[in-house]
Amino acid sequence: MTTPEPRPGVMSIPIYQSGKFQIKGASRVAKLAANEGALGPSPNAIEAYNSGSGDLHRYPVGPADGLREAIAEVHGIDAGRIICGAGSDELLCLLCRTYAGPGDEVVYTRHGFLVYEIYAKGVGATPIAVPETNLTANVDAILAAVTQRTKIVFLANPNNPTGTYLSASELARLRNDLREDIVLVVDAAYAEFATSSDYDSGLDLASTTSNTVMTRTFSKIYGLASLRLGWAYGPKSIIHTVEHLRSPFNVTTAAQLAGIGAVRDQKHIQRARDHNTKWCDIALQRLRGLGLKVNETSANFVLPEFPTVANRTAKDADAFLQSKGVVVRRVDSYGLPNHLRITIGDDEDMNQVLDALTEFMSGKRG
Ligand SMILES: Cc1ncc(COP(=O)(O)O)c(C=O)c1O
Repeated sequence: MTTPEPRPGVMSIPIYQSGKFQIKGASRVAKLAANEGALGPSPNAIEAYNSGSGDLHRYPVGPADGLREAIAEVHGIDAGRIICGAGSDELLCLLCRTYAGPGDEVVYTRHGFLVYEIYAKGVGATPIAVPETNLTANVDAILAAVTQRTKIVFLANPNNPTGTYLSASELARLRNDLREDIVLVVDAAYAEFATSSDYDSGLDLASTTSNTVMTRTFSKIYGLASLRLGWAYGPKSIIHTVEHLRSPFNVTTAAQLAGIGAVRDQKHIQRARDHNTKWCDIALQRLRGLGLKVNETSANFVLPEFPTVANRTAKDADAFLQSKGVVVRRVDSYGLPNHLRITIGDDEDMNQVLDALTEFMSGKRG
């Protein structure tokens, strides 16, 4: 029997593996594997979401006008330069489909977010992973990797899974020294968690240059991961070009309504940021106290490095945590087999994971 042949290259695209969801037999699981918002969504968002239940037979507003206007108002930007997507993932994919194809190169950093490689390969382009320095993007290395074929540079800032970021001045230097015909995509999924004064989400460059796009998500600090909602902001010429490939009704009404409710409740976001900053500090201190190496983080997760000696490895720690009802993320697929990525959860989750790791490192486990 003859079966249909996929396009060349499709079978070489790695299938994205998401963080684990459950542990068999555990009653309460601390799910710290997917960088979801620890406090969940704003009550405003839930109320707005529920308000749409009478209109489930209606198609959504295709261009998400009300949502774009609400985002624009809160961020002080032009709604006409925003495009919304089913998660920022969809927008990252659309940017690849719009600007890259066979024979082109798409550049990102070695431990950058996994989907850049997937989407680059998906359009037949060649993914180019650039080395990092101390798990941090290196502007000179990125610039050195650019060739005549480069069409897009993706930079997650702060990056997942490393939690590190490039300062506003380094970001500006990268844009300045990149060729003008290369789209720089600043993926700022974790922007709201970053509190350093020299951090910029890419909003400045997306406002002022003709070739920079910033992407944002409602999946992290806004606590709306299940609804799949993200947005991108950039020059009109790019945003309007990407519109040509957007599916007509890509963002559901439920997501649009909840997004409007969520973005208008910035007090909730401030509470979520404060919770995150508090627990990042505690987690770094406690993990370092256990002798583990951990970089500072500007996102909602920490990334401790485990020893390579028997019974102390990241794999051992992961198995032990699961036995204690805690799910974290192995990051082998990011080229980091000795690290575990631990999302900041609620108070109970955090005490559970840090106590379990203390027991693990003490070696007293059975
Ligand atoms: C750096 C980065 N960008 C984008 C995303 C995708 O987020 P969304 O849920 O908006 O598709 C993630 C999700 O983990 C991420 O870590």
